[in-house]
Amino acid sequence: MEAYESKSGQEAASAKTMLYDRFRKKESLNGEWHYAVDQYDTCFYQKWYEENYYDEGGNLLPVDYSFDEWDTMKLPCCWNTVDRAYLLYEGSMIFTRRFFFEKQNEDERVFLKIGAVNYLCRVYLNKKYVGMHQGGSTPFYFEITGFLEHSNRILIQADSTRRDGQVPPAVTDWFNYGGIYRDIEIIRVPRVHIKEFRIALEPGSNFRKIRAEVRLSAGINSTAVLTIDELGIRREIAVRDGEGELLLEADPELWSPESPKLYEVTLTCGEDSVSDRVGFREIRIEGMEILLNGRAIFLRGISFHEDSIQSGKALSDEERREALQTAKELGCNFMRAAHYPHSERLAELADEMGLLLWEEIPVYWGVHFDSEDTYKDAENQLCELITRDFNRASVIIWSVGNENQDTDDRLKFMGRLAEFAHKYDPTRAVSAACLVNFAKNAIEDRLERHLDIIGLNEYCGWYVADFQTLPALFENSNPEKPVIITEFGADAYAGNRGTITDKGTEDCQAFVYEKQIETIRNISYIKGMTPWILRDFRCPRRTAVTQKYYNTKGLVSAEGKRKMAFHVLQEFYRSVWETGRFRR
Ligand code: GCU
Repeated sequence: MEAYESKSGQEAASAKTMLYDRFRKKESLNGEWHYAVDQYDTCFYQKWYEENYYDEGGNLLPVDYSFDEWDTMKLPCCWNTVDRAYLLYEGSMIFTRRFFFEKQNEDERVFLKIGAVNYLCRVYLNKKYVGMHQGGSTPFYFEITGFLEHSNRILIQADSTRRDGQVPPAVTDWFNYGGIYRDIEIIRVPRVHIKEFRIALEPGSNFRKIRAEVRLSAGINSTAVLTIDELGIRREIAVRDGEGELLLEADPELWSPESPKLYEVTLTCGEDSVSDRVGFREIRIEGMEILLNGRAIFLRGISFHEDSIQSGKALSDEERREALQTAKELGCNFMRAAHYPHSERLAELADEMGLLLWEEIPVYWGVHFDSEDTYKDAENQLCELITRDFNRASVIIWSVGNENQDTDDRLKFMGRLAEFAHKYDPTRAVSAACLVNFAKNAIEDRLERHLDIIGLNEYCGWYVADFQTLPALFENSNPEKPVIITEFGADAYAGNRGTITDKGTEDCQAFVYEKQIETIRNISYIKGMTPWILRDFRCPRRTAVTQKYYNTKGLVSAEGKRKMAFHVLQEFYRSVWETGRFRR
């Protein structure tokens, strides 16, 4: 990568080059793109993007590509699910299309936004290199004002190669989908525009103050105007050196899963205007309690992956809405979006439908914790995620990773990430899904000192056969912060029946849930759970006859069939919901 960057001389797209784009007018480049599989990165090495068809003498040269005669693929998508030939393909694909562009005014600046490319992306426009981005699940932006002509050719390389120095590393327990799998859009903004806009209820203000922050694309002095019509608010924000902040009195109806109230918010500054639909709520940790709007809550959750048979990671709004609706039917007020940033649509839908979210960056298993480049990749993805979703009421927890051995390098790496999250967003809790300390059969991980909430993955009754280790685990532990059981579960092939000890049956999975709930419900320091997992998901590591390359710990099969354990958990959540009590 470094060699490439130095060769290109252009800064990579990162959190620093993001643009506030919600409710801005966008021009879509989604649709049919020509493509070719580029296993050896020939486009990059042979500079196909320069389209050198003639030598200095004007003689036609042989070329190894024919952009506009290549087959087409409808973007955004994961190539693995659109053509069986590419199901297991990992590597680079080149996508290209033409488009016309008309300037609307001399002053405008034009940005290209790509919602996500797994994993590495290089963009070329009109034979020139625009820039690169790495990180498989977060949006990125390039300014293309100076590249555009009336008739344009854009060419994008998507490289899904798994590499150990990346985040996530080469081995994970989910499928490595590849492609440009979220929207591709053109956004026009004024020369000086709103680059970042944050608005939230001020923690500790007794729900009576809202803080708004604005950052412009230039360090000028100006005045922004914030309006929230439904609250009768219209306030000026002084902008100095491109930044402005206002703490204002307000008395909003608070957002909660039971009452997901959203307000139209508008911010204008100079010629630019943006808006958002925002819920005002406070999440706070007080001692061993998680408080939503001042009231202790129990997080009735479920984990889930961004994965479907039809779409891979490129879920449609219908598929996302259906997942959230199923969680609500399960009795959830909370979901763990594992193990990477899901689409921005998830938090927007959760804001509307009333679900709290745990969002996570893929610092997963064997990350190169001793590498500064790997750390920068992780921190950038965390920064891009927080920048993207800061205004989403549903998001209450940032997770800096999952299931990492408690080593010195890991403590330094993830402690640094957790402190970054605290500083960059003081309004939310920071957590991570930690492993059991198996040497002591206890909840004991040095990372806890950097976390507000301790996430714990434990598989008593499954990977740890003896159920008795579960009560012992909790008795051996004395956590000083609230604990969320972020994973427990068992595989069950939908429709596969047997005894409660027959692994892979629905009966066994349901029994594991019963035994887990029986113990967990009596532990006072456990304030939530997100069992593993809502739906079965594609996973190359799972080849048993009852798995068929799927991780079948879902409460629902990939085809949508609810298993017995779904009803076990639903029954428990209903009883908690009705009694308001987690413990008997
Ligand atoms: C781990 C991991 C998950 C994985 C699960 C499993 O806890 O966090 O990503 O899928 O266990 O083994 O099914």
